[in-house]
Amino acid sequence: MSAENSSSGSESTPSRTPPSFQDLVRDAMRQHKHEKESEAHQIFRNAAGHKPKGVIPQTVNPDEETVPGIEHPGSTGVIYCSDRAMANGFNYANSHEWANLGQGAPEVGPIPNAPSRPDSIPMPVDSLEYAPTTGVKELREAVAHLYNDTYRKDKASKYTYENVCIVPGGRAGLSRVAAVIGDVYTSYQIPDYTAYDQVLSAFKRLVPVPTALDIKSKYKLDIEQTKKDIRTQGLAVILASNPRNPTGQVIKGHDLKELVSLGREGTTTILDEFYSWYIYPEHESGYGKSISAAKYVEDVNQDSTVIIDGLTKNWRLPGWRVCWVVGPKNLITALSQSGSFLDGGANHPMQLAAIPLLDPARVALEKVALQRHFKAKRDHVLARLHDLGLDVDLPPSSTFYIWLNLAQLPEPLNNGLVFFEELLKFKTIVIPGIFFDINPAHRRNLFNSPCHHFVRLSFGPPIEDLDRGLDAIGLVLKKAKRNGSANFGHGYV
Ligand SMILES: Cc1ncc(COP(=O)(O)O)c(C=O)c1O
Repeated sequence: MSAENSSSGSESTPSRTPPSFQDLVRDAMRQHKHEKESEAHQIFRNAAGHKPKGVIPQTVNPDEETVPGIEHPGSTGVIYCSDRAMANGFNYANSHEWANLGQGAPEVGPIPNAPSRPDSIPMPVDSLEYAPTTGVKELREAVAHLYNDTYRKDKASKYTYENVCIVPGGRAGLSRVAAVIGDVYTSYQIPDYTAYDQVLSAFKRLVPVPTALDIKSKYKLDIEQTKKDIRTQGLAVILASNPRNPTGQVIKGHDLKELVSLGREGTTTILDEFYSWYIYPEHESGYGKSISAAKYVEDVNQDSTVIIDGLTKNWRLPGWRVCWVVGPKNLITALSQSGSFLDGGANHPMQLAAIPLLDPARVALEKVALQRHFKAKRDHVLARLHDLGLDVDLPPSSTFYIWLNLAQLPEPLNNGLVFFEELLKFKTIVIPGIFFDINPAHRRNLFNSPCHHFVRLSFGPPIEDLDRGLDAIGLVLKKAKRNGSANFGHGYV
């Protein structure tokens, strides 16, 4: 059965037949302004852990007994989207028939002019033991060396292995860091990486303080305003992804220098730099440059700048679960303690296998190859979106995400969650913008979210997948032109 056939039967209703009562109701629904009247939003609210706060306990099946003391934290947006895709027929066996522009994963196969991909892992007997919770010393040294070589050649203060903690993935790194943040105001911005929502709400001591970034100022973090907030609100910690997921914008140069300087004035700055190589230069001379706060840190043990990165995106090895946190020695000892009860450390053989991948000469080749390949994909997707009449307000200068504003489309297609559900009918996954509206209290009407009209498209996958997804977007838009929008917003499985 084709994707088109698998959608609601009402799509084939000739437009000349008089409107039925159901059609009238649907027409009225198109005017809806509250999530309660949107089927796509109600499906989301009914998934365990996604009810507005205060409506607990929550279970997967409301008829089931609740488990005493257990509360669903809510899955991250990306996982919710995969679950919805599975409900619509997606599975790992048929995933090649789908275009997954949702999951934030880079393609992992060979790309032109990059060093060959690792294809086997040695397993010396020692590697069968636990690794230390801070990681294998040689890998910590290799990480420190890479940062010194790339960003700190001119600095007297250099990172050593004692400034590096190896962690089993970026989210494990974020959780280890969040677990050691005390009873303080922790600032984050909207929109940003979806997992911050759960991470910030799971560790109850810290108090999350959101700041909304505005498209009018190109989603730029206002450093002067941040300095004021530090003074007036007493912010102690600032968390941001840089380059930023999902907007594809980056804090660099003077702004990054200023942000890092906050770490010398009593505010801890946590920079999640998972996309630090995904920088798309305008000129040939720009290839091979990456961006990190490490360039602006003066004293590696005095400046409270914390950097999180790893093999997941830059090395295109998300399955390895080998990542790191770089920061003052005193932070690393705290992370060793939180790791000792949170995750127990990264996989030992994979840590050993990672060491040669951090060789600066190899990294230099990887970076250029990756930037050329992903820039070409970005330009291709932007051009195809333009042909579909979907120009991007703010094309990404970094990451592999496009933050697409749907506000110009007819209702209800102009809301990210409905657009997502409609694309599932055509075997394509994107991520509705609301999942980047980090709102740990889950209290508001989702229609009021500043991210309501957006979806995030990933150009991480290979170009064939991107084209399949773009074809699907074209089909949804064609369907809207042909039949109007009455057929959208309902009939979801
Ligand atoms: C900004 C950012 N940080 C961290 C991660 C997570 O990394 P990992 O998959 O290693 O947990 C992601 C993944 O999407 C991300 O986008």
